[in-house]
Amino acid sequence: MIKIAPSILSADFLKLAGEVKSIETSGADLVHLDIMDGNFVPNITFGPMIVRQIRPLTKLPFDAHLMVDDPIRYAPLFAEAGCEMITLHAETERHLHRSLQFLKDLGVKAGVALNPHTPADFLPYVGDLCDLVLVMSVNPGFGGQKYIESSTEKIRKISDIRKKYGFGYEISVDGGVNDKTLAAVVSAGADILVMGSYFFGKPEPERGELVRKSKLQSC
Ligand code: DX5
Ligand code: ZN
Repeated sequence: MIKIAPSILSADFLKLAGEVKSIETSGADLVHLDIMDGNFVPNITFGPMIVRQIRPLTKLPFDAHLMVDDPIRYAPLFAEAGCEMITLHAETERHLHRSLQFLKDLGVKAGVALNPHTPADFLPYVGDLCDLVLVMSVNPGFGGQKYIESSTEKIRKISDIRKKYGFGYEISVDGGVNDKTLAAVVSAGADILVMGSYFFGKPEPERGELVRKSKLQSC
């Protein structure tokens, strides 16, 4: 069954506690945390202090997506703040193999994210260290952008590599996922759908239905 990971990037931060709780009551599976530093991406969001404050609000796993330079410097802070999954970007790492091992040694699930222009060819060499491969299907930095069509082929390639090498990573797709794009993303091999504006664009009472429908549509 597909997993849904709403991103609080599109939440109403004046009502953050209620927004986080609505993720769990909707039946979604993960809380996606978009961490941006204003360097790797042209936007700034929030840090481990906020993550620590919202941690007690839900039992769902926290899935931190680090869009920051030098993610290894910050990953321990997010692990301590209660993130079970930490994803860094392939583009920031000179020594990706070592960085993924570093995440695993922190005791979290290790993820690697690929920007839209980054080919998947390196995955055979680090796939055994990955619990998660995150395909950016928009340019990182902002919610509410349009799905980049070439992402579908990349998801398929990452799924083929998983099969060929017997890897166990989950494939997460992040950016522009909604009722129009979902079917293609899932049939290409995605396991986790990150949803920002699609999820939080709906009033709270409709979010459960959105999650149910998305899961049904992907069966
Ligand atoms: C973008 C973030 C995404 C974003 C997705 O840099 O990584 O997680 O919240 O938002 P939507 O679903 O609105 O494209
Ligand atoms: Zn994200």
